[in-house]
Amino acid sequence: MTQRLELYKCRICQNLIEVLNQGIGTLVCCDESMKHLEEHLAPNDNPHFGHLENMDDITKRIYFNHVATLEHHFEFIEVISNDKKYVKRKFLEPLEMPEITFKCDCKEGFYVRLHCNIDGTWVTKFE
Ligand SMILES: [Fe+2]
Repeated sequence: MTQRLELYKCRICQNLIEVLNQGIGTLVCCDESMKHLEEHLAPNDNPHFGHLENMDDITKRIYFNHVATLEHHFEFIEVISNDKKYVKRKFLEPLEMPEITFKCDCKEGFYVRLHCNIDGTWVTKFE
């Protein structure tokens, strides 16, 4: 059974997918069950923790104190409303600064999720 917005990765070919509608089936790639990527809640002293900067009433920037090298970098960052109705995703190049800017009145609250090529999937929650 999958849940909306869960991430799954193929251990063989590295396909990475996000669930849009939940279902009862098992996700398979390269003839094997795909691995569910568990989310880790980032402590505020962790390089995968998102720092919030309010640029104006509705424009927000989330940045991370994380390296951006060919060997170790974020593959993408997502801003997700707490009700999971809205998602903004930014794909990052290996040397690109790990940050995302977005507009949101954010009445529902939101969280930020990222996928690091070495350390996996991390979440920072905002009210
Ligand atoms: Fe990392």
